[in-house]
Amino acid sequence: VLCWFYIFPGYRLPRDKEIVEEVLRQGEAWERNQTGIDLYRKLLTECCDPKRMFAVTKENSPMGKVLWYDGEFYHSHTVNNETYPLFVQDNPLQLPLKKCAVVGNGGILRHSKCGRDIDRADFIMRCNLPPLSKEYVEDVGTRTHLVTANPSIIEKRFQNLLWSRKAFVESMKAYGSSYIYMPAFSMKPGTDPSLRAYYALADTSSDLTMLFANPEFLRTVGKFWKGRGVHAKRLSTGLFLVSLALGLCEEVTAYGFWPFSVGLDEKPVSHHYYDNILPYKWFHAMPEEFVQLWHLHKSGTLRIRVGHCP
Ligand code: CDP
Repeated sequence: VLCWFYIFPGYRLPRDKEIVEEVLRQGEAWERNQTGIDLYRKLLTECCDPKRMFAVTKENSPMGKVLWYDGEFYHSHTVNNETYPLFVQDNPLQLPLKKCAVVGNGGILRHSKCGRDIDRADFIMRCNLPPLSKEYVEDVGTRTHLVTANPSIIEKRFQNLLWSRKAFVESMKAYGSSYIYMPAFSMKPGTDPSLRAYYALADTSSDLTMLFANPEFLRTVGKFWKGRGVHAKRLSTGLFLVSLALGLCEEVTAYGFWPFSVGLDEKPVSHHYYDNILPYKWFHAMPEEFVQLWHLHKSGTLRIRVGHCP
């Protein structure tokens, strides 16, 4: 039942219509449910201890600690003289965070006018260094407190930082003084680009603070959702952030989560708010993830914004 559609070259099959109908049936109705919020914070704390574990810190990863890569088997990094000094001392976030906005990159955000709503949150998380240029501000806002960066972006967009670092440092300015959260120890080829990104920022006295995602945290969060019917090889970045937010925030609103080909008006919707490049891997998991998030929305544990903001 959960495997809703198969990917054909270039386009996706229906059943999206059923989701649209379900979301329209629910309408704008949403009621915060403190019991649900407390329950999920407890479940996530028990499985994954986000407060202590979400980043690699000097406290949870002392010298000699073996970090097992969560994205591949039998690879590890042993914390040493070179890597230990790059870790923050401890979780640097001022907890608890109050209202959090988790912004996915779905095309549903385009023309949503959710920018103001997003910017009103106390803590704003974004995925994969998304564009925040003028044309998108009205829809996605301007403020950021934590943004993820996949090492593959460093490779593709910034020539792996082997040549100039200027373009990278410049484009990071869009994220102000936020935390940049990189899965440096998830896949072996991602470690070097992540360390280079760290140095590019440190050497230019950037306002950003690098946080390396703790592979143990990513693995336990993956297990948590697997036990709840998300059968992906790997969770999407957005679901990792929602899980983090459920563990750390008093209230969570998610924007830009809509992995379907039509919007609420049944008109086509692009995959991202800034392009329509479909992912080639793991895409099949996003609808499963959405079903989970939708359950949480219906139970008042978090709020999903689909469509326009008031
Ligand atoms: O790297 P990844 O494919 O996971 O993410 P992305 O395309 O940069 O989008 C960021 C996040 O937004 C994803 O991880 C999903 O959780 C969410 N998303 C969604 O729900 N629906 C879409 N059409 C696109 C992204």
